[in-house]
Amino acid sequence: MPILAFSINADMKHSGLILLATLIIVTCKNKTVQPEKPVFTPPVDYEIATMWADSIVNLMTIDEKISFIGGDRIFFTTAIPRLNIPAVMMTDATQGVHLREQFHQYKYEKVLPKSTAFPSPILLASTWNRSLARQYAQAIGEECKAGGIAILLGPGMNIYRISQCGRNFEYFGEDPFLASRMIENYVTGLQSTGTIATLKHFVANNSDFFRRKSNSVVDERTLHEIYTRAFKAGIDAGAMAVMTSYNPLNGEWCSQSSYVIDTLLRQDLGFKGLVMTDWWAVYDGEKVIKSGQDLEMPYRIATENAKQLLDSNKITGLHINRMVKSILTSLYAMQSFGRKPDTSLFSTFEKHEEIALQVAREGIVLLRNENQLLPLKAEIKNILLTGQFINHNAFGGGSGFVKGYNQLTLQSSLECEFGEKLVVDKNPGDEEIRSADAVILSIGTLDSEGWDRPFDLPDSTEHLVQRITGLNPNTIVVVNSGSGVNMSGWNTKAGAILFAWYGGQTGNKAVAEIISGKVNPSGKLPVTIEKDFKDSPGYGYVPEGEELYYDWNEHNEKLHPVFDIVYKEGIFIGYRWYDKKLIEPLYPFGFGLSYTTFSYSNLRTSAGSLRIGDPLAVSFTITNTGNVFGSETAQLYIHDQDSEYSRPVKELKGFEKISMGPGESKQIIIVLDAMDFSYWHPEQKDWYAEPGNFTVMIGSSSARIELSKEIELMK
Ligand code: BGC
Repeated sequence: MPILAFSINADMKHSGLILLATLIIVTCKNKTVQPEKPVFTPPVDYEIATMWADSIVNLMTIDEKISFIGGDRIFFTTAIPRLNIPAVMMTDATQGVHLREQFHQYKYEKVLPKSTAFPSPILLASTWNRSLARQYAQAIGEECKAGGIAILLGPGMNIYRISQCGRNFEYFGEDPFLASRMIENYVTGLQSTGTIATLKHFVANNSDFFRRKSNSVVDERTLHEIYTRAFKAGIDAGAMAVMTSYNPLNGEWCSQSSYVIDTLLRQDLGFKGLVMTDWWAVYDGEKVIKSGQDLEMPYRIATENAKQLLDSNKITGLHINRMVKSILTSLYAMQSFGRKPDTSLFSTFEKHEEIALQVAREGIVLLRNENQLLPLKAEIKNILLTGQFINHNAFGGGSGFVKGYNQLTLQSSLECEFGEKLVVDKNPGDEEIRSADAVILSIGTLDSEGWDRPFDLPDSTEHLVQRITGLNPNTIVVVNSGSGVNMSGWNTKAGAILFAWYGGQTGNKAVAEIISGKVNPSGKLPVTIEKDFKDSPGYGYVPEGEELYYDWNEHNEKLHPVFDIVYKEGIFIGYRWYDKKLIEPLYPFGFGLSYTTFSYSNLRTSAGSLRIGDPLAVSFTITNTGNVFGSETAQLYIHDQDSEYSRPVKELKGFEKISMGPGESKQIIIVLDAMDFSYWHPEQKDWYAEPGNFTVMIGSSSARIELSKEIELMK
């Protein structure tokens, strides 16, 4: 395996880094070096936890063991009272702590009366800010700890393959590198509070259209390069749990597939912690028990069938022991047993609201700003607010739903910024729209787990935007959605477009601050927004003759036959696809505007040619050439000019977000290692860095390369 992480100090002996060392000494004041990858170590050493688990397994009866491999009361592990092993509580997840009825029933309402509704993870990904990912997750971990919750059923990290997927809001976008860097910080932030992170849903669960029946057909290279990268980053960062997904992969349900769990997750990715199923995701007890799976949630097939499988010698006691031991080991290593609510942490909730707000400030993406309509000028007197989400906030639904508290609506947030200049009218007449100095139009979609939704906006919304942008060119369209939507019909008619995702309880305040100019937007898209869904690599995934549906539809799901979703585009998803096919998207991956401008200069590398395995330091300078303070995310892409197997035109391999005052310059240093040049070799079945010429590109988005340089990789 090539080097996965690289520490500047440890590797100073590499001659290629002499330039880097010089750069650091000479320019330490205004320089930013890409940070090292964070790693979490559990409070109890894994080996010791394993020994403890062994001793408990020896004391358990077979009935106790069988009960332990299934869950209890939907969100608990099973207690073994005779051995003083208490049940461990878990909860969803992706936008904060989901407080559920079950918890109320078990009197948890008292210990956790509220939980913060954070912006959705796709908004977090749009910040491109590792430190915010860490703070966000740590805050969620503190809320879990406050409520005595030991396992968070997140982060979700399936890759954005299809803009229509109902759960994209819960994930980190289309690029495995960006998702990985955010996930490793999420994992370490969350687990620093003693709360277990559960990486989900493993694997290739990239659509919610009859998700239990959609067989993802994916080749091995694509699995490694695209769909398991973020999981690997989470595992390397020390995540203690993984949840397997509902869908079959290449013909077998992931939650009972020994290829998925034993081979891919455990052997290839090196995961040694707790594996659990998604809820009601398995069908064959024998397969579950033999697959490497540990915990069936919430209970059923494996537990109910284990006795009979043992009696008929289809499984052995060793299979059950392995599962029990694995669950015990992870929970003991994290000291999860007996976690009590820690009400002293209620005092941290105020800080959590601040973190949630900061995430929204940095993650909302300004896509269009004609004639610098934004920030609104002081002379603007009459602002009309209309549209969908004025007095109630848009949110993502399903298990990731979080109710929140202190909800800031768009209206109340804009009133704070603009006072009496703001006029609210849900049904404005043409003249009212025409005569407003500016119109703020809220539109969007309410995405949810359980189904996919069309890329095209509903007709009523499309007509509304067309009408209002047609009547008033100073219309600021604020979009709340969990994925890209079709904006092609009105994109050029809008004065400004703010892609605000789902902002949680404080997101609207950030929207208002961006419109007023208090905050300079700095979010960049973690996805490509296509012009038309037909352009997307996933187009055609809904079986012919069928249509999208809009509720849980569990009955129909049961009746629905298994169908294939063939990932025919292979590794070419997102910008990799649009680049290869020369399809111009509406808004490219990595794109987002600011109220200031930046220039890029002085690209240097520590070597023009280097040996495989040597690190390559890449240095460049960014200058804030505008008049206001702002933040920019520089993106480093590489291109392998000549490869045995087809490779993307660009692959993200580094990024850095920096803030600068007007006229200020900063130097950025990103260090690439062998892994950054590698691809998954289908025959060698391993990562492979191929000698040859590479282009190193620095972009302000995937479509705008500001600087580039060739380097040679030698044997
Ligand atoms: C979802 C998971 C979730 C689980 C428990 C399932 O429907 O797919 O993401 O963690 O329910 O609520």
